[in-house]
Amino acid sequence: MSNTEQLKARRADAVANGVATRGIYAARAQNAELWDVDGKRFIDFAVGIAVNNTGHRHPKIMAAVAQQAEAFTHTCFHVAPYEGYVSLAERLNAATPGDFAKKTMLVTTGAEAVENAVKMARAFTGRSGVIAFTGAFHGRTLMGMALCGKVTPYKKAFGAMPPEVVHVPFPNAFHGVSVEQSLSVLDNMLKSSIDPERVAAMIIEPVQGEGGFNIAPPEFLRALRKICDEHGIVLIADEVQAGIARTGKMFAFEHAGVAADLVTMAKGLAGGFPLSAVTGRKEVVDAAPVGGIGGTYAGNPLAVAASNAVLDVIDEENLCARATEIGDKIIARLADIASRQGMEAIGDVRGLGAMVAFELVTDRDSNAPDTALTQAIVAEAEARGLIILPCGTRANAVRLLPPLTVPMDQLDEALDILEASIEAAINAKGA
Ligand SMILES: Cc1ncc(COP(=O)(O)O)c(C=O)c1O
Repeated sequence: MSNTEQLKARRADAVANGVATRGIYAARAQNAELWDVDGKRFIDFAVGIAVNNTGHRHPKIMAAVAQQAEAFTHTCFHVAPYEGYVSLAERLNAATPGDFAKKTMLVTTGAEAVENAVKMARAFTGRSGVIAFTGAFHGRTLMGMALCGKVTPYKKAFGAMPPEVVHVPFPNAFHGVSVEQSLSVLDNMLKSSIDPERVAAMIIEPVQGEGGFNIAPPEFLRALRKICDEHGIVLIADEVQAGIARTGKMFAFEHAGVAADLVTMAKGLAGGFPLSAVTGRKEVVDAAPVGGIGGTYAGNPLAVAASNAVLDVIDEENLCARATEIGDKIIARLADIASRQGMEAIGDVRGLGAMVAFELVTDRDSNAPDTALTQAIVAEAEARGLIILPCGTRANAVRLLPPLTVPMDQLDEALDILEASIEAAINAKGA
């Protein structure tokens, strides 16, 4: 096997530049730990960007996949369907919020789930407009990127976007955007920019992922539910990053006590195997004509087997409660660090369950972003053996995504590394 330096050189020659990569080349991983090709150990608080909520290679998930591989690996659900897909659909229909009849379709990536949810909403309403939010991330396909609330790098250089997509400011108390302001812009928009009777769907992440772990206030989600009901707009909860036990509930929308019409999910859904889903109101899901949705690999049997095992593991190991416990511990530690003298660069600490971020600012009066410090903290952590990710529309937040199965001593070890990394980066900046 090549070492890291060799792989970096080979990657530079062989792989598209547009595919961003970190410098850690993985050799193996188990639960919360990952070893690179040079034998260096890391605690992994990125987990494949919120995918391995159940840890790397959970034994129960690996066993389910191995068992499925003995039977068959692919038939295409359109050609020879299989029970695992049907069972998973039944389970997702029951698990998603909303006391109404539901149906599910499976696809492969988060972006594909978003595309299909929009297609269903359009077919159901006979309208084409979509309302999204600033700072949103919904994927890199054509509609996905149009829905993203950040130009660089997601839309830059990629030509015309689909029409009738508008963006409303996502409320962000830390940056001075209140729920009232956001709702007022939405109200104006529906009067001045887009006829509500042309709007098929409104799509929102209950906690923005790439956008900086910004938490939609529950009253905001409830207000959106009301507006969608008034105008016959399909409300889509994009739970691709926040869903599947990450925030202390199976779906982050549950914190608001209202249900979306459609839920998109992926990432944590299949514990490291590529799978995504759209679950929602039966009549909306079934509005798509037969043959109009699906795909060759959609609902792959191995990924479906993994996903059914993921749902068992979440239940058996109480991972929703564990997400809350882990998140509380991280937030308490970060709040303590932020309260110390010399740590004023930590402008905000926020989180819902085990979806926690802190934002780096040049000063607490302006809250101006400190992107360089953010990068320095991520690099310091990597050097010390902790994988963390930056995020945020201003690229000045650090997000922490521990597996919900992380042993407590490794959580403590990771927080010690994080604290040392923050101090080192801040001291280096001051030097
Ligand atoms: C909220 C949200 N929606 C959609 C996507 C797109 O998912 P994928 O990268 O699997 O296409 C992501 C990916 O980060 C996401 O966080």
